[in-house]
Amino acid sequence: MDVIVFDNVTIGYDGNPVQRGLSFGVKRGEFWAIVGPNGTGKSTLIKTIIGLLPPISGTVYVLGCPATHVCEHRKRIGYVPQMNEIDPMFPATALDIVLTGIFPKLGLFKRPSRKHVELALNLLDEVGLSDKADAIFRELSGGQKRRVLIARALMGKPEILIFDEPTAGVDVASEEQLVKLITKLHSENGLTTLFVTHNVNPILDHIDKVILLGVGFHVIGDRKTLFDREVLRRIYGREVDIICTPEQKYYILPEDHHHE
Ligand SMILES: Nc1ncnc2c1ncn2[C@@H]1O[C@H](COP(=O)(O)OP(=O)(O)OP(=O)(O)O)[C@@H](O)[C@H]1O
Ligand SMILES: [Mg+2]
Repeated sequence: MDVIVFDNVTIGYDGNPVQRGLSFGVKRGEFWAIVGPNGTGKSTLIKTIIGLLPPISGTVYVLGCPATHVCEHRKRIGYVPQMNEIDPMFPATALDIVLTGIFPKLGLFKRPSRKHVELALNLLDEVGLSDKADAIFRELSGGQKRRVLIARALMGKPEILIFDEPTAGVDVASEEQLVKLITKLHSENGLTTLFVTHNVNPILDHIDKVILLGVGFHVIGDRKTLFDREVLRRIYGREVDIICTPEQKYYILPEDHHHE
């Protein structure tokens, strides 16, 4: 069974389409990349999948449930939002932020138990931040904040894990470490992973399928689609170089022209 099913879906806001006619099925255990320039609908697509935004038309099923229905399936989705959407106004610690990941499962009015605190501490350990539990979230580095948000998304023991640009704005070394963490979580926990990014190079080896979003159109295919010069040129509206090293490793260049 496909865990995410889009059937002729138009996504957008207030009746204004961002992408039309999206049809695809994500199988359990697959790793999907969602790629494209700014403003082409990557976050809009994610919000539609997690049920924050109703589709304008068409049907979206996630884990067998209509995406917008508030039912049990939502608890089985972990979501790591784009960094600019997270800014706690109060001086929350890393542990506080991770603990908020249990609220969807717990309901709003129950307090996390000792068991939840232990789970949160274990997850901080798993993402390599065992010494940062009491650090103020706002004061952490970009890469560390990403790790805290990943730990938070893992609190509900999700089957589907969705990342919206988890590596945007971090340096190359931190990016590599984050990708290593995410691909490890993906394979060790049998997760289905959706990964929004401007830069596919670090995840090329792990991608099963890709959704390429251009302005008002899209291309969906397997990993090889990323090496199709013509498709890339249409998506980015310019020439994009594809490099293949002697070890048969591919790189798609450049990736810096559309950064925020
Ligand atoms: N809440 C909103 N209400 C109305 N329009 C919106 C809203 N959020 C985004 N949009 C518009 O929808 C389009 C797609 O936005 P979206 O955030 O999905 O792009 P994106 O591909 O995630 O871009 P980025 O790479 O900058 O994150 C843009 O034209 C944007 O202005
Ligand atoms: Mg976005």
